[in-house]
Amino acid sequence: MDEVMNVVIVGHVDHGKSTIIGRLLADTDSLPEGKLQMVKDNCKRNSKPFEYAFLLDALKDEQSQGITIDTARCFFKTDKRRYILIDAPGHIEFLKNMVTGASRADAALMVIDAHEGVEENTRRHSYFLSMLGIKQIAVMVNKMDLVGFKQEVFEEIKETYTAFLSKIGVEAKAFIPVSGYCGDNIANTSENMPWFHGGTVLSQLDAFESTPLPDQLPFRMPVQGVYKFTAFGDSRRIIAGTVESGKLNVGDKITFWPSGKQTTVKSIEVWNAPAKDTISAGEASGFTMTEQIYIRRGEVACRSDETPPHTGVRFRANIFWLGRERFQKDKHYFLKCGTAKVDMTLESVERVVNASNLSIVQRQYVEKNEVAECILRLDYPIAFDGNDVVASMGRFVVVDEYELAGGGIITEPLSEYNYDTRNIRWSGGSVNKMQRRELMGHDGLVVWMTGLSGAGKTTIAQEVERRLVSMGISSFIIDGDILRNGLNEDLGFSEEDRVENIRRTAHVASLMKDAGMVTLVSLISPYEKSREAARKVAKGSFMEVYVKADIETCKKRDPKKLYQKAQEGSIKNFTGIDSPYEAPQNPDVLLDTELWSEEECVETLLDSILGRINFTGTRK
Ligand code: ADX
Repeated sequence: MDEVMNVVIVGHVDHGKSTIIGRLLADTDSLPEGKLQMVKDNCKRNSKPFEYAFLLDALKDEQSQGITIDTARCFFKTDKRRYILIDAPGHIEFLKNMVTGASRADAALMVIDAHEGVEENTRRHSYFLSMLGIKQIAVMVNKMDLVGFKQEVFEEIKETYTAFLSKIGVEAKAFIPVSGYCGDNIANTSENMPWFHGGTVLSQLDAFESTPLPDQLPFRMPVQGVYKFTAFGDSRRIIAGTVESGKLNVGDKITFWPSGKQTTVKSIEVWNAPAKDTISAGEASGFTMTEQIYIRRGEVACRSDETPPHTGVRFRANIFWLGRERFQKDKHYFLKCGTAKVDMTLESVERVVNASNLSIVQRQYVEKNEVAECILRLDYPIAFDGNDVVASMGRFVVVDEYELAGGGIITEPLSEYNYDTRNIRWSGGSVNKMQRRELMGHDGLVVWMTGLSGAGKTTIAQEVERRLVSMGISSFIIDGDILRNGLNEDLGFSEEDRVENIRRTAHVASLMKDAGMVTLVSLISPYEKSREAARKVAKGSFMEVYVKADIETCKKRDPKKLYQKAQEGSIKNFTGIDSPYEAPQNPDVLLDTELWSEEECVETLLDSILGRINFTGTRK
């Protein structure tokens, strides 16, 4: 019996989900030995009545001692097959689980309290299920014991809920009146409800069809990372990841999307195990290639002889929003799809649906708990599939700051990106980051160099700029001294003025970065807070470089004889003398000008910059 079915169980917290799960486990003899008795004894000791829900708590405690789990999984089996029951306690867990593809449910069990009826959360959950394309749903009307096992109560809920489901295009395969508490119609047919002839929850689960193994689908493996063998001068690179669908064999021609780069599979490598000839869906492994092409995390490895995925930067999607802050235009988000993580903005909202009462609103933002049809735009292309090819490859989550704030499904690609012709076919909107990259041959970046006066910021910046430009990289220096003679001529050296000086500079630098330049900023910028603010302004395309030299060294160097003047008292508020300098605690790059030569500092900084700007090297 190798067949396994993933079933997700959803429902309002108080509707008795845990009791039902406890029952299912107990009645199918799926509990660890002695567990049931142990929990019963515990209850007796604490003189509280035994409940099946406690079983689940006891199991969860056990599981969570080992690893932290977002979602509880329980296992049971029938004569027909094995089941993995996924309990998603809240919307966020549910979404993470479903959208990230960590587990794909073949079917869903919904719990509704007979006493309470259909609630807002029940409707919301069903909407999510429909969006995620889960077609096999069984509804359990629970706590029938509390309503005297009355058929009318059951029929009424069935009617109301069927009406709601039909509006969202879902048809429940079954409605079953149950009592998790008493065990009616869970694994055993109820004697209390002779009017019901539809079978038990278990028999309904067995009646569900399992989804065909994703082995039959086209091969997709989102690239998790590229690793180099280092031992014995072996220079091969391994492309590693988990196979989402399909099969790959040694000798297959593969294409990586969205880059379109092609090669052939030379060997398949599995950690701590002998090499194999084939890998298939669900396996975590890696392969080496006949040509050493440059591939990055986030690309999707596909077989060249199979249907390719879509690639693009703009698409229509259904999203559900769970973020505390509303989903809105002119804000910066990240989209994660497969292993790709790219900058994203909301281009427009086509319509907003209240997932609970299905009312439709026309407005350009989405509030928490709403579902919306939107047009999304990415800064870089990703590869994805439609629901009809590899459904999980069209699901994504949205990250706002650091939090998971929404999830969704791509419903229609609106641009196809073709790397061969470097040509992008799409309509509307302003030039985006990716087109800018094509034009410049690299991304823009703010390289923020902070340090004491005389530490060497300008010297290093000038040499780095020269080298970048000679490589064909557009680069420009914004020097504090120069800005202070123009844009910032109204500012002095009080704390307030310095903060303003840094703020303005950050905005100018960020605009130049947006225009595609590697913008080198040479500014004392003594305050940690201001530098952090500058990083935010640059939306992360920012590199803090600490040009380090002791105050004593700077005093000795004193190229402009300013330290001398400060010590004599003819300059006030001089950094390091009578004005503070907060050294970066955790800079992206540290250049210690006392330990390293100018050349070493320049090389180090150049390397870091080249690692960040996606330089294609085509402009030389
Ligand atoms: S910041 O603190 O606001 O970031 P910024 O880098 O723009 O300073 O300006 C520093 C330059 O201004 C120094 O290189 C120096 O030439 C000049 N300067 C004049 N007065 C001062 C002062 N009191 N403190 C620091 N730098 C000063």
